[in-house]
Parts: sequence; structure tokens; C-alpha cells
Amino acid sequence: MIARLRSYSPQIALVVGAALVSWACAGSSEGEAETTTLSSIIESESTAAPDAAPDTAPVAPPTAASTSMAPETTGVPATDAPEAPTTRASTTEAPVTTAAPVAPLEIDETSFVALSKMTPVRGFFVDNLLGDIDATVAIAESPVGGVYPMGSVVQLIPGEVMVKREAGFSPTTNDWEFFELDVDATGNTIRVRGGDEVINRFGLSCATCHALAAPQWDFICEQDHGCDPLPFDRETIEAIQASDPRT
Ligand code: HEC
Repeated sequence: MIARLRSYSPQIALVVGAALVSWACAGSSEGEAETTTLSSIIESESTAAPDAAPDTAPVAPPTAASTSMAPETTGVPATDAPEAPTTRASTTEAPVTTAAPVAPLEIDETSFVALSKMTPVRGFFVDNLLGDIDATVAIAESPVGGVYPMGSVVQLIPGEVMVKREAGFSPTTNDWEFFELDVDATGNTIRVRGGDEVINRFGLSCATCHALAAPQWDFICEQDHGCDPLPFDRETIEAIQASDPRT
């Protein structure tokens, strides 16, 4: 039908088209809106093209002139003034806020002590490099698990250590740093250390195994937290613990 009307007169087609548009939009609009839409479309379709250009041209210059004069005087200081403090404030505040809680833990071969000097918990041993051993033991002994506090040291055998680092150290390992140590009567040598890239002397990734612990255990495996078991029985583990050469 529209096609036929179009062939008689483009103006009729326009009117019908506009009417269809206003019907389609009529769900939320009333009679008034319909009339306005219809007439404004017809008006603009028939007269806008020739009129719009001259209309816009004379109106534009005074607007442009009046707006360009205002910013010329006030724009420069107005723009500079707020920008500078905002930028300085945000760059100054960010490091101050984040630096305080995330001061990195300094860990070297003197950080680790004999298992006999650590606190035993169900067959493994804990310590805290920041002195907050109570907070570490509280999580280790919690029947529902929890997140170990920063500074926590956990060991099963003399040569392997997990240390809870500052927040953000290694999101993929819950901020645990893994260490493999060589130990003897004189102390420790660090063979490898780091996050999920640390591989033990058997070519296995510490993180791959420990990540299998259910989330509430914070990467601690024990015997029943969901990790694959070690290829040693408890007797062997206890023998290795007892053979710690450090004093
Ligand atoms: C083959 C998997 C596997 C790998 C690889 C592995 N672990 Fe473990 N780890 C375990 C299991 C299972 C236990 C618990 C053993 C038990 O209590 O009988 C454990 C225990 C521990 C514990 C005592 C706390 C706990 O999770 O129960 C520490 C600390 C530890 N491992 C550190 C390391 C470090 C450091 C590395 C790498 C240098 C490493 N592990 C590599 C599976 C693994």
C-alpha cells in the first residue's frame, strides 16, 4: 500500500510513513505527541532542507562568539586550577595508602629455624616472621580453616617452606611464597623461591599441588583437604622431620 501511494505522490507516502512512526511510538505518547510528531516530520521533510542552512548559519556565529569570549577570560585559569591539585592529590594519595600495608616482607636464609623451634600443629610446624604467632596458630587450629595472616611460616619437612607474604604478592597462590631449602648444621641455603613458578627438586610445582586444597584451607594440604597425597607415608615424613640437621 505504501509502495502504491509513493508512486502517486512522495508527499502522501511521507505522511503515511510519519503516521506509521507515530503509531509505532504511540504506546507511551498521547494524542498531542502524535500530532506534534506528524506535523514536525512533514514540516521538516518539506522545508527543512532549504531553510535549515541559512537559519543555522546566522544563529551559530553569535553563539560561538559569546561562548568563545567567556572561556577566553576564565577558561585558562579555571581549567588549570582544578586539574593540577586533582592530579597531584591522586598520585600522592595512592602510594601512601597502598605502601603502608604492603611493605614487602624481607626474607633470607636467616629467616628459617629448626622445626624443633617452631610450633607443632597436627604434624606440621608454624611460625610467624612478624611475631604474631598466636594469629597463625589460631588459623592453623581452626576447624573451619581461614586465611593465614601475613608473616606466617608453615613447614612439613625441613627443606620446604611456605611463607604468607604481603597482600598482592602473588594472587594465584593466595600470596604464599614457596621455598625449597638446602639445610645443614650451619643453617639454610635457598635453592628456589617464588610464587606459582616454583618447582621442587622432583620437578613438581608446589603451587599445582597446594592449589588443590579446598578454598577455606588457604593452600594447606594436610591429608584431607583435597590435595593429591605425597608419595610418602606419615612414618617417613616423621623420620624426615626428626632428621632436621639444624639446631
Ligand atoms: C605432589 C604434590 C605436592 C607438591 C609438588 C608439593 N607439596 Fe607440599 N604438601 C603436599 C601434601 C599432600 C601435603 C600434606 C602432607 C601430609 O600432611 O601428610 C603437603 C604439605 C606441605 C606443607 C605443610 C602444610 C600442608 O600443606 O599440609 C608445606 C609447608 C609444604 N607442603 C610446602 C611445599 C613446598 C614449598 C613445595 C614446593 C617446593 C611443595 N610443598 C610441593 C603436596 C605437595
